[in-house]
This record gives sequence, structure tokens and C-alpha cells, in this order.
Amino acid sequence: MEDESVVKVYDSKKQSLLDRIHNGEFMKIQAPMVRFSRLPFRLLCSRWGTDITYTPMIMAAEFNRSEHARDSDFTTNDLDSPMIVQFGANDAEELSAATEKVINHCQGIDINCGCPQKWVMKEGYGANLLLHPDRIFDMVKTVKRRMNIPVSIKIRIQPDLNNTIELVKRAESMGVSWITVHGRTSSMRSSHPVDYEAIKLVKETVSCPVFANGDIFTLDQANEIKERTKVNGVMAARGLLMNPALFQGYKRTPEECVLDFIDLYSKYGDLHPVILHRHLMYMLYDYHNRNEKSEFNKIKTVTGMIDYIQDKFIFS
Ligand SMILES: Cc1cc2nc3c(=O)[nH]c(=O)nc-3n(C[C@H](O)[C@H](O)[C@H](O)COP(=O)(O)O)c2cc1C
Repeated sequence: MEDESVVKVYDSKKQSLLDRIHNGEFMKIQAPMVRFSRLPFRLLCSRWGTDITYTPMIMAAEFNRSEHARDSDFTTNDLDSPMIVQFGANDAEELSAATEKVINHCQGIDINCGCPQKWVMKEGYGANLLLHPDRIFDMVKTVKRRMNIPVSIKIRIQPDLNNTIELVKRAESMGVSWITVHGRTSSMRSSHPVDYEAIKLVKETVSCPVFANGDIFTLDQANEIKERTKVNGVMAARGLLMNPALFQGYKRTPEECVLDFIDLYSKYGDLHPVILHRHLMYMLYDYHNRNEKSEFNKIKTVTGMIDYIQDKFIFS
């Protein structure tokens, strides 16, 4: 019986995210990004205008089996909300088990159905699921039946849009809470234009909320896409890496935002120094000329990076 299989009731804070979306609040969302969308970056985006953040893709099977994977892949705290845990999964039991482990620490889970990387596709995850949609439906249906938590999917469009339309209709009938559409096919590079008309078609097809993803680098673009597609929210990845305050209308990362990032990193860690360096390279992109870029590139230590930022923005 369905009632018996509801293993946990989620709290009112989680309920309110779905309520907010259904009440018509337009959501500005930080995309899942492997290695990058970890705790300090999620907190930074939340502070600077993002309504929902996503963890990087976490492989459900490994997460279930290895305590080490759980410790290294997932760190959170009370400020980290509303936050969605994105799983790489292709099996309903694995996804359910992984969801149970995070259900009290997030406001929803998402299934990655769009990653086109070779190894991900080969193992039957990410965009490979678009070729085996029954696996997606089974995962959505099973987790929704067993647990009271929003379950969303993040997809890419398919070369034949009829397949996308069929997929989103069935996902909706399985109870998916919302659908994020990256308006490129799996074989398209990030330089390929995004098909916003396809996203609009998805929005017109289903009644569940739809979020648009792809090539959002400014607030104006976000608003334009909102008008054009009538979606419930927009999700940005590279735009937020370059400027975590983009949804507040800033044209480049504000100095205080870079300092906030250093502060959050100092408090919570959870980033490999190489990734900290990459984050700072992105945020400082518009501040640096070519020489400064190569000067910053030479810095290898965390203290070196922090000193550099403080010299640039506090003591200069
Ligand atoms: C560094 C990086 C890591 C990414 N990791 C993930 C991921 O873990 N899960 C996922 O669904 N998409 C991932 N993506 C794809 C983004 O979420 C997004 O769909 C894509 O970059 C298009 O959005 P954009 O044009 O705003 O960058 C990643 C993208 C980047 C740039």
C-alpha cells in the first residue's frame, strides 16, 4: 500500500519550496556542476540572488556503498537551503537507497538525464537514460511512491523533439515534481545555440513546473528567456561560475562577492585547492588583463590565493 511505503514525511521547509514554485514565484537556479557546485559555492550563490542550488552529480551506487564517497561527495549545513541533491543513477533501488540517506538534508532530489560525457553514457547514466526512458520513469515512480520528497529530472532535448515530448509527458504521469530542460542535444557542444523554442514546447506540453537551462549569462537574458518560454525558472551554470551575483543584475562578480567566497571557503572548506583556484580564475576573469591572469595562474597555495585577493580588493 502506498501509505505504508511512505518512509518519511518531509518538513514544512521542504514543502514550501514546491509551494513557492506552484504559487508562481520565478526561480533563479544554480546548476549542478561536478567538482564546482560544492557547499561554499552554493552558499555564495544563495547569498547573491539564487533561489535554488544543486549539488554536483553524486553517483548513487557509490554513495550507497562507500562511507568515504558519502563523506567526500556530500557536505551541507542549515544555511544550505533550498538545495537539491543531484544523483547519477539508472536503477530505482539504488536511487531510493541514496535518497533515504539525504532526505532530511535537502529539499529535493534530481536525476541527471543529460550528462553527455563518454564514461557516463557508457555506464548507462546521464544522457544515456534518454535512450532508455523506462529507467527514468521507474526511478521517478519508485522514489515518489516510497518517499515524500520532490523528485525532478534534468534532461537535454533530443534530435527528434517528439521523443522529448513523449518523455516529459510520461515523466509527468509518473509524478515528477519539475523538469529542467537544457536546450541542446547530447551531441551539441556548449558553443551551439540553445533551442529555446524546444524548451517552450516542453513548457506548453506539461503542467508540472519547467526550468530553462542554457546560455544564461546576465539577468537580462534570464528575463528574456522567461518571457519567451514562460517557464517557471531559469538555471545557469557557466554564467554563475563567472559571476555568482548575475541574478542580482551585476555585470561582473562584485568585489564583496569574491571576498564572501574566500570567507565561506575559510569557514567551510569542502573544495580542493585546484578547484578553489579555478573558481577564483572564473570570478576574476573580467578584472584581469593577460599578465595578471598568468600571474594569478602561478599561485599554487591557498594562502597565496587568499593574500592575492585581499591585496587586490582590500589593501589596494
Ligand atoms: C564545470 C561543469 C560541471 C557540470 N556538471 C554537471 C553535473 O554534475 N550535472 C549536470 O546535470 N550537469 C552538469 N553540467 C551541465 C550544466 O549543469 C548545464 O546544464 C550546462 O552547463 C548548460 O548551462 P550553461 O549554459 O548555463 O553553462 C556541468 C557544467 C559545467 C560547466
